[in-house]
Amino acid sequence: MKPIISPSILSADFGNLARDIDMLNRSEADWLHIDIMDGVFVPNISFGFPVLKHVAKLAEKPLDVHLMIVQPEKFIAEVKALGTEIMNVHYETCPHLHRVVQQIREAGMKPAVTINPATPVMLLKDIVREVDMVLVMGVNPGFGGQKFIENTVEKVRELRELITQTGSKALIEVDGGVNLETGARLMKAGADVLVAGNAVFSAPSPEEMIHALKNL
Ligand code: DX5
Ligand code: ZN
Repeated sequence: MKPIISPSILSADFGNLARDIDMLNRSEADWLHIDIMDGVFVPNISFGFPVLKHVAKLAEKPLDVHLMIVQPEKFIAEVKALGTEIMNVHYETCPHLHRVVQQIREAGMKPAVTINPATPVMLLKDIVREVDMVLVMGVNPGFGGQKFIENTVEKVRELRELITQTGSKALIEVDGGVNLETGARLMKAGADVLVAGNAVFSAPSPEEMIHALKNL
């Protein structure tokens, strides 16, 4: 199976965002990955809804929105208003994760749960059947272009096993440090969706890099 490719616009040229989104529209990218940060849950701030409204208008691919913020449930309506298909919330930010997942689904989006590098896969045992996707972080969230944490490959393997055992239909997405080399190993371990920021936007031809990732 070919991977679903979700390029992260965090590494795009914000001075030429329309141009970069246009490139992604033309490319073989399947989704657009959008990283929202709050400077509280993660030590960085990316962009908010006023900017994303314009991004959403230009984007012709489904939006894969990754919220690295505390209390993400407060923004379900705003995320939905962007036309978002998939809303990712962090396990670490949701003490009432089951409720948040239901609220995202009731709002008409696909719920996904994200885990940080230090969060064990087994903690998802009671939620994995309720979500459409699990996002496994390959770096500590907050910045693009960081070094891939090797243990992520093992976590994807474990998660594939958990999904099989529980009969869950969740896709496995990996975000952070994904390039051609780590991407190939993640696919072998059982990943379905690859997010790539730096690998795409720092490539001489981002479109060709997306093509290469798609054909891993
Ligand atoms: C990191 C973000 C990622 C980031 C990935 O906190 O969640 O989506 O853009 O960037 P790369 O692919 O550069 O590691
Ligand atoms: Zn992300």
